[in-house]
Amino acid sequence: MKLAFIGIGKVGFALANNLQKKGHEIIMGHNNLNSPSLLDAQAKNPNFVALTLQEAVDDSDIIFLATPFKINSSILEPLRFHGKTLIDCTNPVGPGISHGLESKISGAEKVQEWAADAEVVKSYTIYGYENLENTHFSKYHVKPVMLVAGNRTEAKAQVMQLNTELGYETLDVGDLSQALHLEHMTLMWVKMVRVNGHHPNFTWAYLER
Ligand SMILES: NC(=O)c1ccc[n+]([C@@H]2O[C@H](COP(=O)([O-])OP(=O)(O)OC[C@H]3O[C@@H](n4cnc5c(N)ncnc54)[C@H](OP(=O)(O)O)[C@@H]3O)[C@@H](O)[C@H]2O)c1
Repeated sequence: MKLAFIGIGKVGFALANNLQKKGHEIIMGHNNLNSPSLLDAQAKNPNFVALTLQEAVDDSDIIFLATPFKINSSILEPLRFHGKTLIDCTNPVGPGISHGLESKISGAEKVQEWAADAEVVKSYTIYGYENLENTHFSKYHVKPVMLVAGNRTEAKAQVMQLNTELGYETLDVGDLSQALHLEHMTLMWVKMVRVNGHHPNFTWAYLER
């Protein structure tokens, strides 16, 4: 598939690089050809192509959003998505690792407001980028789980397919309002690892009997 990335920093690059190795085409959407992360990504993986943001959206099957949350409205509102799947990998983080929207609404639902003609799916936020770079936990019999939330089943199925290819167990946790709870899982992971010293390769697992 053709996958566009808006934001190709730690999160965007980790996902794009692994998905390119699985055979997908990667398009980096940019508004600045001198962007440090764009140049860094091109140097690390010359297979990536760079197009303007709207060209990248138009030329891709699925779009990843991996930018600082505070710039999302200005990036998204001018773009037209024509019903394509937009994966929200961003987190609204407030002071003291609190929820940046005071837990009143998820960041993903705001992303859906700003990209009204996209099908927004929340995924890839419940871990730090370390668990997006390397998904191999081969000494265990369970895989790390990657959860998805969204309003449209077909869009979630596309993301779950990518999750499987990346090596995760994957699970649909419900509609986009569930993203608020995923964002709280993120805050818990971030506080545990970045503040309390838990290992950055710690992941969540889904066990059922
Ligand atoms: N870091 C993590 O462990 C982690 C894990 C899960 C989710 N997240 C979330 O994922 C998102 C990205 O995090 P990250 O760690 O990947 O950040 P990052 O490494 O700083 O990358 C941010 C990307 O956004 C681009 N960007 C920044 N300002 C921009 C603007 N005004 N216009 C266009 N592009 C702009 C940057 O381009 P330039 O190089 O040009 O600045 C870069 O490509 C955040 O919302 C974060 O909360 C982070």
